[in-house]
Amino acid sequence: MDKDINITIIDREGIKHQVEAPTDMAMNLMEVIRSYELAPEGTIGICGGMAMCASCQCYVLSNTELPEKQDDEDAMLSEAFDVKDSSRLSCQIPITHVLEGLEVEIAPES
Ligand code: FES
Repeated sequence: MDKDINITIIDREGIKHQVEAPTDMAMNLMEVIRSYELAPEGTIGICGGMAMCASCQCYVLSNTELPEKQDDEDAMLSEAFDVKDSSRLSCQIPITHVLEGLEVEIAPES
């Protein structure tokens, strides 16, 4: 099986990026967004992926089946701004093959 999966990420300017993400590097979606520099440094991933800042919030646009939210993600999203039903913390989404074809939009900076 191919190690990379294809993900579409819409940045905060509304620009669509098709990126490939490796499934064998223990990365999460927030780290992929950072590695492609799709959001300015310092505006995403502020807590380092601990579900404690919500700077990595994304809206899930595709109907990809994602791993369920854990309590800490739920709690952080309940305090965050601009939250929608489709909101997820991208740092809590590990890059695995189930994400093939995922489409997300990075939430506004808060
Ligand atoms: Fe802080 Fe995801 S990086 S909640």
